[in-house]
Amino acid sequence: MHHIIESQQFDRTTIEKLFLLADTLEKKKDSSMKGKILASLFYEASTRTRFSFESAMLRLGGSVITTENAKEFSSVSKGETLEDSIRVVNGYVDVIVLRHDEEGSSKRASLVSDVPVINAGDGTGQHPTQGLLDLYTIRRELGKIDGIRIAMIGDLKHGRTIRSLSYLLGKYKKVKIHFVSPKELRVGEDIKEYLTRQGVEYVETEALDSVVPEADVLYQTRIQKERFKSVEEYSKYKGCYRIDTALVKRMKKKSIIMHPLPRVDEIDPDVDSSPKAAYFRQAKYGLLVRMALLKYALRK
Ligand code: CP
Repeated sequence: MHHIIESQQFDRTTIEKLFLLADTLEKKKDSSMKGKILASLFYEASTRTRFSFESAMLRLGGSVITTENAKEFSSVSKGETLEDSIRVVNGYVDVIVLRHDEEGSSKRASLVSDVPVINAGDGTGQHPTQGLLDLYTIRRELGKIDGIRIAMIGDLKHGRTIRSLSYLLGKYKKVKIHFVSPKELRVGEDIKEYLTRQGVEYVETEALDSVVPEADVLYQTRIQKERFKSVEEYSKYKGCYRIDTALVKRMKKKSIIMHPLPRVDEIDPDVDSSPKAAYFRQAKYGLLVRMALLKYALRK
């Protein structure tokens, strides 16, 4: 059984194989999922993850069944548990892509599932397929991962993409991470402990300005309104870091801006026309990486 639950499960060799497969899938038609069915079970909103997984399955010749607002439109609204839903959907499909608002939900689902479960985001836990597509973007845009300097910016406390990408970067050599956030939204202790164990250099700061000329990647994130207890609390941090054209002029020559998206106001739309703005290309690479991941999850 090949569940995809967290970034830690992938070693460098597997990641490189996945990325080479993603490169190949861009150029070569592949119908290996013919006769297979994917269920996308989304208990939280999504545009990119759901559509790219569904598109990936269709492009590989497979089929898709979906519930986009599972809290309202599945039997959860009648009181069914996640575990029971997974057991039932098991009878209909070959792979389940699950997004849920509770950390650990994909792990729970995998424990009762006879078909692979793919974590498409579990609350503030992980988003491993996003982490992998982020890493693929870095490799593709900069030509390397070892030795990069990356600034992760914004709501690092609630950012599951931050956790998944950090766990992946910890497998590479001479990477330096600048965690840029307000004090209250700092990255989790688990990530820092892991990076220390892996010998990855990192610094925490509230100041973005000094990091900009040094970084190969500015990884901007949204302040996640839905994770705060009140709108007042969210408003304290809204707009705290904004990338605009003046900031872009201070970036290194060969450097990029990434963002898992959706964005709200943390990147000025005027930046979109800069060649450094990699975030829409990043979203597009997600299709290739998820095609590769479906083949990985459903391998014999
Ligand atoms: N990056 C990401 O997970 O986007 P969606 O919420 O639109 O899937």
